[in-house]
Amino acid sequence: MQVIIKQSHADIADLVSEKFLRLIRNKPTAVLGLATGSTPIASYQALIRKLKSAALSVSQVTTFNLDEYVGLHDLSQSYQTFMDENLFKFLDFNPKKHHFPSEQNLGHYDQMIVEHGGIDLQILGIGPDGHIAFNEPGTPFDSKTHLADLEESTRVANARFFSSLEEVPTKAVSMGLATIMAAREIVLIATGSNKADAVRSMLAGVANLDCPASVLNSHSQVTIYLDEEAAARLY
Ligand code: GLP
Repeated sequence: MQVIIKQSHADIADLVSEKFLRLIRNKPTAVLGLATGSTPIASYQALIRKLKSAALSVSQVTTFNLDEYVGLHDLSQSYQTFMDENLFKFLDFNPKKHHFPSEQNLGHYDQMIVEHGGIDLQILGIGPDGHIAFNEPGTPFDSKTHLADLEESTRVANARFFSSLEEVPTKAVSMGLATIMAAREIVLIATGSNKADAVRSMLAGVANLDCPASVLNSHSQVTIYLDEEAAARLY
């Protein structure tokens, strides 16, 4: 596991987007694992800029998103809409090559990923309680794509995307920890002081169920990108 600490989120976005760009250039049929939340937005913006200026096509790229809410009243809050608005609509993706977990496909989402050759590069954020995707503390390390109950603290953290806390769903479908670990390469970005505790426990060196992101310690190709605030409790 490599840990890279940068001064600004823009520096991180530059490095992460470069990794995606390199992959897409070398493998136009790449399979990307994508995340939502505030964290990846800057990397997506940098990637859009770079792909456009390199005139590279993503029409053969396949994407698998980490998670999706269940029971949304307003579909404009869905992670699918998030991806359209923050990445997909700016590039020449083939919409048939986008995949999101759902209650209908959760039993075979992992198999779908395998049938597409597996995820080449997975991007992750981290929740303040150490969750990745919607794998909350206590989720078994061998979990596959499943229906997950959201912790109250996660609903509160994500309420900023909704008009009230009541509107935040209590359930989501999420790739499991084993699904994520099957990716060939993983990048995790954490920025801001509200992630500092989760980052410290992720990097404590031992995988423990209380910090789902700590499962990444046993993956051979993981890079963790931190800003100084998120790294503040490591010293
Ligand atoms: C949500 C998502 C996670 C994401 C986390 C952190 O719970 N399911 O994939 O990593 O939020 O979000 P943010 O990047 O907005 O801090």
